[in-house]
Amino acid sequence: MESLQGRVGVVTGGASGIGRALAEALAREGAKVVVADLDEAGMAGVLAGIRGRGGEALAVRTDVGDLASVRALADRVFEAFGRVHVLCNNAGVALWGGLEAATHRDWQWALAVNLWGVIHGLEVFLPRMIAQKEPGHVVNTASMAGLVATGGLGIYNTTKYAVVGLSETLAKDLKPYGIGVSVLCPMGVQTRIRESERNRPAHLRNEVPVPAEPVELMGRSLAPETVAQMVLAAIRAGELYVITHDEGLEPLRRRFERMERSIRARKP
Ligand SMILES: NC(=O)c1ccc[n+]([C@@H]2O[C@H](COP(=O)([O-])OP(=O)(O)OC[C@H]3O[C@@H](n4cnc5c(N)ncnc54)[C@H](O)[C@@H]3O)[C@@H](O)[C@H]2O)c1
Repeated sequence: MESLQGRVGVVTGGASGIGRALAEALAREGAKVVVADLDEAGMAGVLAGIRGRGGEALAVRTDVGDLASVRALADRVFEAFGRVHVLCNNAGVALWGGLEAATHRDWQWALAVNLWGVIHGLEVFLPRMIAQKEPGHVVNTASMAGLVATGGLGIYNTTKYAVVGLSETLAKDLKPYGIGVSVLCPMGVQTRIRESERNRPAHLRNEVPVPAEPVELMGRSLAPETVAQMVLAAIRAGELYVITHDEGLEPLRRRFERMERSIRARKP
């Protein structure tokens, strides 16, 4: 998609961090922006900023883990703007701890937001985006944790590997419709992701808190605005991968080399 001027973008998790920066960057390019998040105060701040700069924006309280809530979001967006061109399935939560200590509630919460959140976005918006027959783009926020597995991040890794696989397939499936797909895979970004527990619903809180120290992230911690600019460039260029950190190259190479060794070792 060459120009974002006059397009409509939807950003889940748009009240904070990467989503907020994406919403603001889309608005700066002249797109109308819908911010969808649980955090109403955060969304109000984003809206005020965008409108203060002369942009057009709408906030819709949404729980991406709840299909009915995402359906209501889509109804509201199409009622207000009639179209969606850029869909950013970005809302996410992180949690830490060895898989041996993971609780059922941990799995339910992380999968609901990080994986079902993306699935719900696709399920609800894609048929309408295809039917409108205009250029479109889907951005799914995964992580470097969707390409390389770090110990102590197993639940998160599982959700993000799924989002990478889904996005790689989606790019192939949507090609005939002229809808591009990008999967965002950052390492550290300066956001509130380490405070994700603030977003855990009461019914999915652990009865006995599981003690877990956040995993130390390797590499630089980028500003969300820098990451948002990389995403915009990928939308314009129609690029699938948005891998933000050079530091990711070595772990990726080591993973590939281990796979290559396995294949070569089995040659007759
Ligand atoms: N910050 C990093 O280092 C980093 C690295 C790789 C990937 N990511 C991914 O980036 C995405 C954005 O996270 P961030 O780093 O900006 O964190 P953040 O905590 O600053 O923002 C996440 C936003 O998602 C919202 N959210 C959480 N649960 C929700 C739900 N059920 N429904 C709707 N909104 C919900 C939160 O209210 C918040 O506004 C996530 O998918 C995260 O996994 C972040």
